[in-house]
Amino acid sequence: MTTYAVTGATGQLGRLVVDALIARGAAPGDIVAAVRDTAKAAGLAARGVQVREADYDRPETLTSAFAGVDRLLLISGNEVGKRLPQHTAVIEAAKAAGVTFLAYTSILRADSSPVGLAPEHLATEQALAAAGIEHALLRNGWYTENYAGSITGALATGTIAGSAGDGKIAAATRADYAEAAAAVLLAGSAGVHELGGTPFTMAELAAEVSRQSGRTVTYTDLPVAEYQAVLVGAGLPEGYAGLLADTDAKIVEGHLDTRSGDLEKLIGRPSTPLADAVASALKN
Ligand SMILES: NC(=O)c1ccc[n+]([C@@H]2O[C@H](COP(=O)([O-])OP(=O)(O)OC[C@H]3O[C@@H](n4cnc5c(N)ncnc54)[C@H](OP(=O)(O)O)[C@@H]3O)[C@@H](O)[C@H]2O)c1
Repeated sequence: MTTYAVTGATGQLGRLVVDALIARGAAPGDIVAAVRDTAKAAGLAARGVQVREADYDRPETLTSAFAGVDRLLLISGNEVGKRLPQHTAVIEAAKAAGVTFLAYTSILRADSSPVGLAPEHLATEQALAAAGIEHALLRNGWYTENYAGSITGALATGTIAGSAGDGKIAAATRADYAEAAAAVLLAGSAGVHELGGTPFTMAELAAEVSRQSGRTVTYTDLPVAEYQAVLVGAGLPEGYAGLLADTDAKIVEGHLDTRSGDLEKLIGRPSTPLADAVASALKN
């Protein structure tokens, strides 16, 4: 019997990974949802999943959370700037608990990417290599869901803003990435996976929103500072808005694109088409 653990299992990706593990044959009782707030995991417990407290900021919770776990998925935290110590604590606890395989959700080409989000991921990858645990790097591209707000907003404004020019974005849905993570965890196969879906441009995204909504939607390309201001206007903190706007500009040079085919290979089907992702955003 193999025991699997998923950190951040109450998050949007983590919940889908647990679903995918069960859909692919893991028994709920062989899955540990390692979560910061166990109260949020009542639904998982009701399905027979083991729920254990695991807070990246409280290393004392981590080793006991990973007791008896064979294979662990470390889902990167969502506090940019705090993640390296958090992830290092998880890796050290996993090693101490005798975890034999660890998969980590990184970013496309973390080892060469100029995207501002990449250094924390690369440092985590290096910490993982230094720990000597057999591991897999799930270098995820952008989530298609990142555009959900822009898509629904475009119904009112007729425009989608960005700084991505005519760069290609190999986004895929969280469910696609979750299925890939589950497949890697179940196989226990070490390696580097550059994960992304079928690439599209922002103009193609706008055209798809137009097609489905019946309203003319165009893409407006903005200088980085102006796009940052748009994101701040939408409620994002200044620093994070700057990081995202700068990332958008890196799309022009292809840094969120991949043609690796790794995602399709892992999930055994094509990634979710852009049209489906747009339809789902428009439904909500
Ligand atoms: N590829 C992309 O486009 C993209 C976009 C955004 C983020 N990401 C990265 O991918 C990760 C997963 O995405 P997501 O959509 O599932 O994000 P999410 O819904 O924000 O989930 C993040 C998870 O991390 C958990 N977490 C945060 N701080 C923690 C801590 N100190 N200790 C333990 N758990 C902690 C959260 O716990 P709670 O449930 O208790 O809040 C949550 O379950 C993100 O955290 C981020 O690193 C990728």
